[in-house]
Amino acid sequence: MKILYFTSTGNNLYISQKLGGELLSIPKLVKNNEFDIQDECVGIVFPVFFANSPKMLREFLKKVNIKTDYLFIITSYGSDGDQNALRIMIETLQNRGIHVNYANSVLMVDNFLPMFDMAEEKKIKKDEDIDAQIESIKEDIDLRKDFRLSKKMFTDIPNIEDVLEKTMISKFHISVSEDCTNCQICSRVCPRGNIAFADEKPVIGENCEFCLGCVHHCKNNVLTINDEKNSSERFRNPHIKLSQIIKSNNVLT
Ligand SMILES: Cc1cc2nc3c(=O)[nH]c(=O)nc-3n(C[C@H](O)[C@H](O)[C@H](O)COP(=O)(O)O)c2cc1C
Repeated sequence: MKILYFTSTGNNLYISQKLGGELLSIPKLVKNNEFDIQDECVGIVFPVFFANSPKMLREFLKKVNIKTDYLFIITSYGSDGDQNALRIMIETLQNRGIHVNYANSVLMVDNFLPMFDMAEEKKIKKDEDIDAQIESIKEDIDLRKDFRLSKKMFTDIPNIEDVLEKTMISKFHISVSEDCTNCQICSRVCPRGNIAFADEKPVIGENCEFCLGCVHHCKNNVLTINDEKNSSERFRNPHIKLSQIIKSNNVLT
């Protein structure tokens, strides 16, 4: 089994590890121009971004060739929009002649800082509930079940994902405080390799995925986003180390 995953704060790497098999980071596949994936069973594991999948994953899906007997897609989300993200991905793959056998989602900590307080999220999203969801999905996949989530879409606004992405991304911006120590972790966790340095301070380029990895993993918490719920609290999946995020996302080396 091969699992293609995208993560910024570790939730999707955690799911992928629990499901098992060979784990392939999507930013690394893109960097290495590897678009031919073949295995008896293939999975794509990704976060919901604005009721859709991350931009980088959508671009990857336009190029990837998947040859498999069984394809599953799993999305982790924090509040809603999972069904919309799965539906879009199923349609996108279908249009490329790739059939999705199984689609499901896992409710986890919502890392979207402008809308959620990480301290509160960590309290309410319990490890045992998360593990139970993943375990149940793993059983389904082991049995090669045919299944798609059929929850009602959270809104009937057409193309809500485009509206959300445009309005949200234009509304929020990331700032760097004077206390930056030039540790450069932000650039090593950026899946786009989009952070350069000038005068020993990070400068975010035009190609931002808005995954917030740079903000969450900053060791001195000097990166912030406007209108955060709680600027002192950050999130990384408690089972995932910073070095694993860097290994997944550092496209600079
Ligand atoms: C830019 C952005 C947009 C997001 N949009 C949604 C959303 O529409 N619905 C939702 O339930 N969660 C949303 N989330 C939360 C993530 O999907 C969730 O926290 C996910 O588990 C993070 O996975 P990761 O730790 O592997 O990066 C968003 C997160 C980010 C950074």
